[in-house]
Formats: sequence, C-alpha cells, structure tokens
Amino acid sequence: AVHVREKLGNGKLYVVSNREPYMHVKQCSTVECVVPPSGLVTALEPVLQACDGTWIAHGSGSEDAAFVDEHDHLRVPPDDPRYTLRRVWLSEEEVSGHYEGFSNEGLWPLCHMAHTRPIFRVQDWEYYQQVNAKFAEVLVEEMRDTEHPVVFIQDYHFALLPRMVKNLRPDARVAIFWHIPWPNAEAFSICPWQAELLDGLLGADVIGFHIQSHCNNFLDTVDRTLEARTDWEQFSILRGGHTSLVKPFPISVAWDEHMTEQAENVHHGSLNGAGLKKDAEDSWNRLPDSDERLHSDLHRELGIEGKHLLVGVDRMDYTKGIVERLLAVEYLLDEHPWYLEKIVFAQIAAPSRTRVPSYIALKAQVEETVERINRKFEKSGWKPVILIERQCSHKEVTRYYKAADICLVTSLHDGMNLVSKEFLAARSDGDGVLILSRFAGAAQELRDALTVNPYDVRQVAEAIRTGLEMSPGERRLRIDRMRQQIKEHNVYRWAAMVLTDVCAVRIEGEVLADP
Ligand code: G6P
Repeated sequence: AVHVREKLGNGKLYVVSNREPYMHVKQCSTVECVVPPSGLVTALEPVLQACDGTWIAHGSGSEDAAFVDEHDHLRVPPDDPRYTLRRVWLSEEEVSGHYEGFSNEGLWPLCHMAHTRPIFRVQDWEYYQQVNAKFAEVLVEEMRDTEHPVVFIQDYHFALLPRMVKNLRPDARVAIFWHIPWPNAEAFSICPWQAELLDGLLGADVIGFHIQSHCNNFLDTVDRTLEARTDWEQFSILRGGHTSLVKPFPISVAWDEHMTEQAENVHHGSLNGAGLKKDAEDSWNRLPDSDERLHSDLHRELGIEGKHLLVGVDRMDYTKGIVERLLAVEYLLDEHPWYLEKIVFAQIAAPSRTRVPSYIALKAQVEETVERINRKFEKSGWKPVILIERQCSHKEVTRYYKAADICLVTSLHDGMNLVSKEFLAARSDGDGVLILSRFAGAAQELRDALTVNPYDVRQVAEAIRTGLEMSPGERRLRIDRMRQQIKEHNVYRWAAMVLTDVCAVRIEGEVLADP
C-alpha cells in the first residue's frame, strides 16, 4: 500500500468507473449504504483507501433533488473516510442506452467469448458517447485546480473517455484499464463503431489488460483498423504523434496480513523447492480431522452437517458458466451415486443487470436447472443444490469460502476473475481446493488450481471428484503455492505498476523538477 502512495509522489489521483464503490439505497425513510458485487470495486477500493484521491462514478441511488444534493460529494468509506467519491447522475435514458444497451448488450458479449450475440443500436451508441462526454466534463471540473493530474479510467464503459480527457487537459497523464477480455480482431470488427472506440482508447498514455493475449489481440485489432504505427517489440502504438503503451497488469485482491497468520505458522514462509515439500509433509500430520471440517457454524446453519461443501460465488451472469457448473454436479451424482447425500453445492448468485433480457433469461434457466436437479436427487431431507439469489456481504461470502471443501470458478470467459483469488486469500487455514476455468485470466497465474474446460461437463465433474478425494497433503501444497502468489502479487502491486508506467510518461511542455 505504501508503494502505491510513493508512486504517485505529489500527483493527485482521479479514478473513473461506472460502478460506484458505495451505493446509497433509499429504503422507505432510511438510506442504506451497500457495497456492490463488482470485481472492479473489490480491487480498486483498497487502492483508493491507501492513496486518497477522487473516485468519480455513476451515482446509482438518485431519487430526488435533496438526495442528490446530499450525496454528490462524499468522503468514504462512510465509517472511516479516506477518499472522495464524486457522483455523476444519469437519466433513465442514459442508463438504458449507455449502461444496459451499448456497454452490456453490445461490448460485454462482444468481448466475452460466451456465444451471446452482441446487440448494437444506433441510439445506444449515441448515449454511450453522451455519457462519456458527461464524465469528461465532470472530471475536468474536478481537476480544475490540479496541475498534471493522474487519471485512471476503468473498463469498457469508457472507451471514448481517454481521448476526450487528453483533448481537454493535455497535461493530464491518462491510463485506462480494460477489466474484461479483448477478443480477436475479427470478432471485434463486427462492432460498427470499432474505429471510434479504438481511437478513443488511444488517447490514453497507458492501456492495461489482464494478460498478454488480450494485449496481442488489441494490437492486432488496431493494426487492421486504424492508421497507426504498432510496435510489437515495445508494445506501443503511435497515432497522431501520441504514443500509447499497451501492457498486461494482472489484477488481484488486497492481502490482509491478519488473515494469513494461521497459514504462516504452517508454512514458515518457505515456498519453493525442498522447503515446500517438507512443509507439506509436516502439515500432513497437523491437519484437523476431516470430519471436523464438515461441522462449521455455516454447515449447522445450512442444515448440512457432515456433508462436503462446494461453493460458487458469482454475479448472475451468463459468462460465469453457472448452468454448466450445475450440470457438472448433476453428472457427478449420476455417474458416482456414492456422493448422494454426501455433498452439497451452494451457489451464491448476486442479482446483476436485472433489466437486460439475456440476464433475465439466464436467471430463469439457472432456477429451473436447480429445481430439476434437486427434484431428481432429493432424499430424506437432503438436496444437492442450495441457490442463494441475493447479494451477500464480503463477510458472509468469506464464511462460505472458509467452510468450503471446493470453490468452483467455471467462467466460460473471464478477464481475470477475482473470486478465485478471494477464495485463496480467505483460506488462512491453508486448506481447500480451487477448480478454475482455463478461460479465466487467473488460470495463467494459479497453476496449482484444478483447471477445467467449463464446457466439458464430464471434465468438471471429474475435477470435483479429484478435489474431494485429494489427499490433505496435496491440497495444502497446492493452496500454499497459490496463496504465496497472491500475497506477492496483490492489488497494491497491481496499482503501483500501472501508476509507475503512467507517471513515467513525458508530457510535452512540462518543466521537470531538478533532480
Ligand atoms: C465486471 C466489470 C465491472 C463491473 C462488474 C459488475 O467485473 O468488469 O466493470 O463493475 O462486472 O457489473 P455491474 O454492471 O454491476 O457494474
């Protein structure tokens, strides 16, 4: 965290995203403050807490003028203020055109290889431009007294914003991070406004993706679409005299030292070569009796004492492979009836983009599949699947992570996927198994997960079986290595790396301070 602050030096940080880190939801006469389910928010919030600055985001709780007035500029988190939240209020039409339409019916399925057809409406595109311009205006207003501000834009809702900001404030250093995959050039070319989107992005000094292959796809898309010079060695793009650096920055979660105490006691910090082997052997004998693990408070609360718990934690989104995961559980029970009454799969599915038709259809499909599977196998009070369709707090989700034998992340396609990393961070007991889709960016780093092709139901079922039957020693060995990876590559390091690159950018006409 200290590192992030250092990177900024005297520079002031402005972060822009569509989703806000705290939503004030009006419930009758009271206003409730909730943290939305968003990987982006999970990652960025600790960074802003560490280095202050201003976070500009769409104010989702706007109801009346008095509310808007009161909640325009806030210091947050509400109980321990550390940075400023500046809200931008959007009309119904703007939300529908920019957020639901162009961003989530157009760009989201365009960039995710999940075989949901993107929809591009002229009207949505107009709102997309309008909302990008509105954010540019607010940003410029916020930065009016700051020289050489550092602007860090987030995600596919704001592809046009980097160019707009640079035009208005050429002295600003601008980075944009694309939190979702970038598809191959041919796939991207179906977007009628691909040239405008690319040109908008190239206003940024630094363009970040999670993994190298997304960077390659981006360079190739630019190569085939725009007049620009792409440099495949430096991974930079020169257009109209301005250079943009294109780089992978794999995002992560905050690593909270006190969560790790217990695990540290187990592996003594030595995690490679012989040290690792020895630690694993040592810990073999120190494992809690496996029966004990099946009797957590959560097991009691759910009425599943003595059963093995599998968990999935996602937004209700068709890219997450929730239906495929359910089919894998069904396949396992069909093929290996030995597991009947012995396992329970709890799926937390936070409501998401609930007015978008493809999300409405997915919700119905998930519910039907859960009902069908439960009807098929239920036996003397036991049901194999528990579906929790609400947003759970971080604390609640952590209880599930800690009580689980296996965490299932089977995204059909995912930029990074932070659930996999949150699960690992939560396992301070140094135990648990992660099943991870090979199509999630996280699979590049988390080599000790059981990687699967989520479309291959048989393979996922087999991975569940392998996870359930894995020896405690192997479980510990794998999770120790992955936890170490996340501890070292946490979100502070991610932010520090992006900021290092953007702060190193030479701005024309800037007078450099004497060394
Ligand atoms: C993904 C996107 C984020 C977004 C999050 C939640 O992680 O990359 O930008 O905030 O999903 O989606 P929502 O539409 O609720 O903000």
